[in-house]
Amino acid sequence: MRALVTGAAGFIGEALVRALAARPDVEEVVAVDQAGSRTPFAKVRRATGDLASAQFTRGLVTRDIDAVFHLASLVSGGAERDFELGSKVNLDATRDLLEACRLAARAPTFVFASSIAVYGGELPDPVTDATPPSPRISYGAQKLVCEVLLNDYTRRGYVDGRALRLPTIMVRPGAANTAVSGWASAIVREPLAGRDYVCPVRGDTRMACLSLGRTVEALLRAAELPAAALGFERALLLTGIPVTAEQMWAAVRRNARGRHQGNVVFRPDEAVQRIMDAVPRATRSERAARLGFRPNASIDEIVGEYLRGLAGRALPI
Ligand SMILES: NC(=O)c1ccc[n+]([C@@H]2O[C@H](COP(=O)([O-])OP(=O)(O)OC[C@H]3O[C@@H](n4cnc5c(N)ncnc54)[C@H](O)[C@@H]3O)[C@@H](O)[C@H]2O)c1
Repeated sequence: MRALVTGAAGFIGEALVRALAARPDVEEVVAVDQAGSRTPFAKVRRATGDLASAQFTRGLVTRDIDAVFHLASLVSGGAERDFELGSKVNLDATRDLLEACRLAARAPTFVFASSIAVYGGELPDPVTDATPPSPRISYGAQKLVCEVLLNDYTRRGYVDGRALRLPTIMVRPGAANTAVSGWASAIVREPLAGRDYVCPVRGDTRMACLSLGRTVEALLRAAELPAAALGFERALLLTGIPVTAEQMWAAVRRNARGRHQGNVVFRPDEAVQRIMDAVPRATRSERAARLGFRPNASIDEIVGEYLRGLAGRALPI
């Protein structure tokens, strides 16, 4: 298999490229990003460029590509601040990539990283397969439009599409991106790095969470599912376990015994809190469970996976 991964230098993309390259059935991974990556790998060919350029994006899909994993995105806060750039990266680039697949006339598997930001307004708790999407931020609207396009390109036989509505993925290493939910990683990462952290939401703020390992596993599973198992609707909600900010911090203290720790204080920022109060606090998908997608058992499992990663151990995929 020859795979193309966009957003390959990002948090999820880099872990996915690593997992793909480790598979014996993968011949080559074309890793696309505007940013460089420090991680050299056998079987990985880097393609550096801006997906907002239609010329660059349309040239990426050649007839020998079997699977596209489209992860590049200007995430929530970034797309809300810069509507034009968000539309270009989140919407136009996806359409250009789908067009490139259509013109390559090969109908590759197309796995799209969507988001639970497609939900908004008065939400049930948990959000389930029956909850209608109704985005209240541009990022969510752009993701939803891409899902609709993916269904139609699939129906017409131009791609074999699969979209995963991802909850909050933990734990992002290094610097934050523009995601408004970035605190949900920082509250684990920062104290474990020995730094104090001021959390911009109340301790009882609850999020739908999934670990990086389970996310990569889900992206690979999405690519492998037989088309018949999915039917027309290619967008699939993933289950994110409900965890409050307090519970995240408690899990760090429980699991990091003996490690130097920074402290966490809660000082809610009105703007961040308002957005967090309006997103799904838990997601539960029976459909994902039937199709073999696994949620995490607990926040301890998520923190434990991160700690093992810090110790140099591979993701449990
Ligand atoms: N991390 C989460 O909690 C989460 C939750 C829901 C959905 N998602 C989705 O999963 C995907 C990956 O998320 P992530 O957390 O790895 O994000 P990230 O910000 O870490 O990575 C995104 C990558 O896309 C690249 N990129 C952005 N604009 C580009 C452009 N114009 N041209 C080329 N490359 C560009 C960036 O350089 C970056 O490396 C995104 O589509 C995101 O919307 C993530």
